[in-house]
This record gives sequence, structure tokens and C-alpha cells, in this order.
Amino acid sequence: MQRMIDWNPALAALPLSGIRRMFNLAATMKDVIHLSIGQPDFPTPKHIIEAHVAALNEDKTHYTMDAGLPELLSALSEYYSARTGRRLKPENFVETTGGSEAMFLAITSVAAPGKEVIVIEPSFVLFQPLARMAGASVRRIVTTAQNGYQVDPQEVIDAIGPKTCAIILNSPGNPTGTLYPRSAIQAICVEAQRRGVTVISDEVYDRLILDEVEPCSVLDCNPDLDNVIVASCVSKTYSMPGLRIGWLISSEANIQTLRRYHMFTTTVGNTPGQWAAAAALQGSQQCVAEMVAEYRRRRDHIVSWIDAAPHLSGYCPQGAFYIMPSLPAGTDGSAFALKMLEETGVCTIPGDTFGESCRNALRISYATALETIEQAFERITPWLEQQSF
Ligand SMILES: Cc1ncc(COP(=O)(O)O)c(C=O)c1O
Repeated sequence: MQRMIDWNPALAALPLSGIRRMFNLAATMKDVIHLSIGQPDFPTPKHIIEAHVAALNEDKTHYTMDAGLPELLSALSEYYSARTGRRLKPENFVETTGGSEAMFLAITSVAAPGKEVIVIEPSFVLFQPLARMAGASVRRIVTTAQNGYQVDPQEVIDAIGPKTCAIILNSPGNPTGTLYPRSAIQAICVEAQRRGVTVISDEVYDRLILDEVEPCSVLDCNPDLDNVIVASCVSKTYSMPGLRIGWLISSEANIQTLRRYHMFTTTVGNTPGQWAAAAALQGSQQCVAEMVAEYRRRRDHIVSWIDAAPHLSGYCPQGAFYIMPSLPAGTDGSAFALKMLEETGVCTIPGDTFGESCRNALRISYATALETIEQAFERITPWLEQQSF
């Protein structure tokens, strides 16, 4: 008899990704327009590529310190000290393999059986499964397209209970592009600190802010970092997701624990990638301004196309490169997205990928050329007119 692997039951917490389902079908079709991609479509800026190639040519291909390349940790401390006005030292950082490892370490080092993690839905695909895999339960706070997926901070505060160990924030967020105002982040941070609850803040889109608003990091809201873990990366800001460089920020004592955990996961990050990341943080930031300007132009168009499309309820996202319009209540977004893909060749991501409460929504990514997005709407708008609910 063939013996099966006796898998760790914790793996049952990991769902079949809705993104994969759509991509599998799209791969069998011709002439598909992808509004589904969660990565920037711009080439990586030249000075970053040059730093990466130089590192390879200079034989910088061996392990770094497990906390991260010292030059990158220094670059990070200077970058954040300038941005936040708070003095951060290299000891406040651990380098990780992208924002994904950063969030893996942050969530699974805090979540545990008997504890509860507060997650605001729609939520990025990793958050809820990682909390559950670590044995914690998830308390979901639901937000809707009707109010632009803004969170009511009081609802989060009221959800804090004796088992709450962490609140996960993600502003601007994937899949919604929603940016929380400083007042909301501040209110949550202040109460979390008072109650000894950790705020885990995924800030990977913190530089992709599309309006003239002051972005807010939890680093700006907490007088000390004892109850705060911030995750970020260079993937989105500098259009270099394949180089896989991210980091965590917290108090020195917390970082010591997280560095030890990192040692037992990926040990060290990609060395040439860390040199490239240091060049990104220290070089001209003009490339970021140019990418943000283009995302803004696309966002403005897509918001008006969604407004004009029947059956879609939109809003104006202020960050990242996503928008998540909703369909009429009760619509099975998953079946709808598959039908739309089959009949129009436009690939989006069904809402249930990001939580139970957003089944009737679709995530649209505008990390693709404006002309391509326009062609997609030329297909889906007349198609939507023919749909009945
Ligand atoms: C909210 C959020 N966090 C983390 C990540 C992971 O980032 P990385 O590609 O650097 O691992 C992503 C990637 O899409 C994301 O959208």
C-alpha cells in the first residue's frame, strides 16, 4: 500500500488561492487581459539593477550577517529616521526575504493557540491563514466598498478582548488600495499599547500614496516600539519584487527575538539583492515619484470607468495599485469572475480570496498600461450591461 505523508494538520489553514484558480483558467485561454497582477509593471530602475549586477561582479554572493547586510541595515535606519523623525538604529531592523517572510515572522511569532488576532477584511491573502496556521483564532472586522473600505477604529477597539494578541493593519492595503487616516491608526495604536496588544503593520505600499495626503505609519503613532512590529519591503516602491528583499522594524529587544526566528526560517536574505535594496533606499527617489504619478493617472481613469460601468460600486482608493469594486449584494464573485474571464477574457481576482465578507467584490489591479486597462473596460462594460442579478 502506498503511504501518504502525514501532513501537519496546521497546513489545513492554508486555502487554495483564488488567484491561482483564475490564473490556471487564464493560462488555457488566448487574448487574456490581466487586471489581476499584484506586482508593479515598471522596469526596475537602472541604478538599482547596476548595484545588483555590481554586487554579482564583485563576488558579493556569499552569506551576509543573518540580521542582514550591515550596509542595508544602516541604509534602512537612515531612511526611516529621515521619514519618521524618530531615531532608528540598525538594531531596530531585521532583513527578510521580501515582505512575505516579514509578515510570516511577525504573525507567527505572536499568534498562538488560545490567542486571537484581529484582522480587517478584505485582508491580504497571507494574514488570516498565517494566524490560523499558528493556532490562533481570527476576529474579522468587516469593511465595505460603500464606505471605501475605511475602518471604524472604535470597532477595532471594541473587538479587543482578553485573548487578543495582535491587530494587523495594512494601509494602504491590498486588495483595496484604501489608506487609513492618521486619526484611525493613532486611535488603534494608543488603545493597543494601553492594553498590551501588538500592532503588526504591513506597510509595503507606504510610498505609493496617490493623493496629497500625509501618509501615516504606526511608527508615527507609538511613543515606543515595544508593542509594534512594522513589515515592509522594496518590492512595490522600487518595482523589484523578484529580488525578494524586505524587513521588520521594532524595538531592539523585539528585533533580537525576531532575528533569532529569522535564523531558523531563511537564515539570510539574498546578498546581491540586499546591495540593490541599499542602492534603492539611498539613491534618487525620482523613480518613485514617476511611478506614483503614473499610478495616479491610471487610478483616476479606472475610478471613472468603474463609476460608468453598470452593477459595479466603486470608491476612490488613495494608495497602492488596486481597487475592489463590489457587485450587487449576494453575488458570488468567484463564479462571476470566472464567467467574466471566460466570456470577455478579462482576468480579475474574486473577492473571497481576501475574506468571507467580500464574496461579492472583485479585485482589479491597475499595475498595467493604461491602454490595456481601457481595452479591458471596453470589453467588460458592455458585457456587464447584459448581466442580470
Ligand atoms: C500587503 C502585502 N504584504 C506583503 C506582500 C509581500 O511582499 P513581497 O513580494 O516583498 O514578499 C504583498 C505582495 O503582494 C502585499 O500585497
